Amino acid sequence: MSILIKNGRIITATDDFFADIFVDGQTISSIGRNLNVVADTVIDASGKLVLPGGIDPHVHLEMPFMGAFSSDNYETGTLAALHGGTTTVIDFVIQSQGKSLYDALRQWQGRANGNVYSDYAFHIAVTDFNANTQLEIKDLIEKEGISSFKTFMAYKGALMIDDRQMVGLMNEVKKYGGIVTVHATNGDVIDYLVEQNKTAGNLSPLYHYLSQPEITESEATGRFTDMAFETGVNSYVVHISSEGALNKIREAQKRNQKVFGETCIQYLVLDASVYNLGFESAKWVMSPPIREKKDQAALWAAINQGIVQTVATDHCPFMWGDKCKGEKDFTKIPNGAPGIEHRMELLYSEGVNKGKISLNKMVDIASTSSAKIFGMFPQKGTIAVGSDADIIIFDTTKKHVLSASTHHHHCDYSAYEGLEVIGKADTVILRGNVAIENGNVKIKKGYGEFVKRSKVTNIL
Ligand code: URP
Ligand code: ZN
Ligand code: ZN
Repeated sequence: MSILIKNGRIITATDDFFADIFVDGQTISSIGRNLNVVADTVIDASGKLVLPGGIDPHVHLEMPFMGAFSSDNYETGTLAALHGGTTTVIDFVIQSQGKSLYDALRQWQGRANGNVYSDYAFHIAVTDFNANTQLEIKDLIEKEGISSFKTFMAYKGALMIDDRQMVGLMNEVKKYGGIVTVHATNGDVIDYLVEQNKTAGNLSPLYHYLSQPEITESEATGRFTDMAFETGVNSYVVHISSEGALNKIREAQKRNQKVFGETCIQYLVLDASVYNLGFESAKWVMSPPIREKKDQAALWAAINQGIVQTVATDHCPFMWGDKCKGEKDFTKIPNGAPGIEHRMELLYSEGVNKGKISLNKMVDIASTSSAKIFGMFPQKGTIAVGSDADIIIFDTTKKHVLSASTHHHHCDYSAYEGLEVIGKADTVILRGNVAIENGNVKIKKGYGEFVKRSKVTNIL
């Protein structure tokens, strides 16, 4: 199977040029002006952008959490990702406390195997670091191609680890060249504020937001980056939502520490007014919560300053019925929201189209930097000879309205209901096969492959 993409404007993280792309099999075979080749399929990309397929480095598919399962499984979630131009996702395997990391990996492999549309990789969340867990790290990195380890400084009593476990894990991961990532919020302070609110009878979703003030995020971010500095491990802070946390990352980067930052599309697009809607605000109960307009502005600036390298979704949808379990008590609302489909189009519409970021920056934060940080570059994350032919043809003129009635998420509400966006991926190619064409699915369930990742490089 071969594809010739003609006359497109190719954008990578660094380049912007007009050329044809010839795809032979699963990879890009040549790039040049007026390529004189015969192909099985010819796509005319005149007037369109040709971008590397998106990489979403933070999604939760079919995750057991707070008494429910996130409502997109590997089939529906990765298909929704492809519809939006994301061709690779990195999901989280989550260790159960008292069990091994391999035990969790086998469970997650069982759910994913044969069901995935996009390509995918795993991070492993370490919720119980002990002498046995320690022994598993080497093989996970060297045999399984899983080089990133997630930690939680919150969700006390469920996922949270303490600082002693954190530095132990950091030292072990460092030995084998991996990276430690973190949900950086102060679990003890949040726990205290939650209890205070519950005692005072403050039980609506607004109090989820008020129980996680900015300092809970900035304090934990600073503590984490200090521990990473002390141990010398490469590190990455997920879903940064606030200016205070950004300041801690900036400080760490100033001492030339390898710490990378991720924000999520919802923190760039939405603001805390979503918590003034009574129980409807449960749709946006996530951790950290959506913050203020000043944080939004700081996040866009941090992207341009290179403090934040990636934009993810933290896609973790729950059906409204599950959210309603917290109708009388916000602590029972499963945390998370849908978004996997909309990341690329929102980055274009709210970012590039509104003059906040350049096209090269969009490609960098939506694809290239994730590939580099997480050991997939240059197989993924760029348009280059020899790279996987993960390519999207993006129409910058297409207007559409985001809605639960049209999205592909398996979720009965949208976090962006009624928002008009401009720009859409109209053709999505994954490893040399057209996966989506004008909204129609052209590949079968199970086409998606697991990406074994190399050790994290020092490419950035
Ligand atoms: O609220 C969120 N973010 N849910 C998913 C789990 C996590 O903390 O990333
Ligand atoms: Zn988190
Ligand atoms: Zn998450």
